[in-house]
Amino acid sequence: MKVILLGTAAGGGYPQWNCACSMCARAGDQAPPRSQDCVAVSSDGSGWFLLNASPDIRAQILATPALAAGPGPRQTPIKGAILTDAELDHTLGLLMLREAAGGLRVFAPDAALAALRLGFPIRDIVDSYGGWDWQSTGSGFEASGLRVRVLPVGDKRPKYARELAADGPWVVAYRVEDPATGGAFVYAPCLATWPDGFDDFVAGADYALIDGTFYSPDEMTGATASGVSSNAQRRMGHLPIAGDDGSLALVRHHPGVRWAYTHLNNTNPVLCTASTEYDEVLAAGVDIPRDGTTLEF
Ligand code: MLT
Ligand code: MN
Ligand code: ZN
Repeated sequence: MKVILLGTAAGGGYPQWNCACSMCARAGDQAPPRSQDCVAVSSDGSGWFLLNASPDIRAQILATPALAAGPGPRQTPIKGAILTDAELDHTLGLLMLREAAGGLRVFAPDAALAALRLGFPIRDIVDSYGGWDWQSTGSGFEASGLRVRVLPVGDKRPKYARELAADGPWVVAYRVEDPATGGAFVYAPCLATWPDGFDDFVAGADYALIDGTFYSPDEMTGATASGVSSNAQRRMGHLPIAGDDGSLALVRHHPGVRWAYTHLNNTNPVLCTASTEYDEVLAAGVDIPRDGTTLEF
């Protein structure tokens, strides 16, 4: 299985266009810019599925030779998208992909499928371009030779879907397995907690890319929003990295798995490779991969 990390920042990217916080001001060589969270996976390198569809998808595709159009004049190796949730930073890219000849196949949890019809009605919009196929993830499915398992991880709704009548889970994690190699990749960019069943879900995986949105539970206080209270980052649906009950303490129970953080928010000090927080994460054996990182297992 091949995995390409197309984007590794949270919604808004890094730096964020409307943010003048100290981290955004620092973006540069020591704190490389990052596009919004999105991953491409393939069993054989010829057909690819996206994990989430970022608003930056056009630039991400153009920066990735494996995703280049062809061989026919209107062909693309991208077969579809697998969504962890219906947040805008994970779904806006579907609008950019509307021209895909014959449409794409999209897998998402039921609540996300409902939200993309009723709250942010892009299903009807892209369907009018023809051939799109929307599938519920259920507890698992197959996508171009890859086996995908699904774990419900949360019920945080997008802001635009607060009033929508739909049962959760609203957020899921995926374990993508290649039956040919035995390789396994876990993708969990939105973890409000360390969810029930997650330990078993990651067991034996080659690589687990998890929610690294926030370093600390209150880092937006002072950085960008003086009114944001302590622990606000947990309420936003993102388990912080640091602290006794943060994700860095929890991943230590699984030394066999290679762990990595993605969906980094623009306030997160680990964005800067010269920070003590960056050093701390790497010293714990956890990766903070950059956009464009390619993995194979
Ligand atoms: C999140 O990850 O919490 C969401 O993407 C936030 C948002 O875009 O509103
Ligand atoms: Mn997000
Ligand atoms: Zn900022």
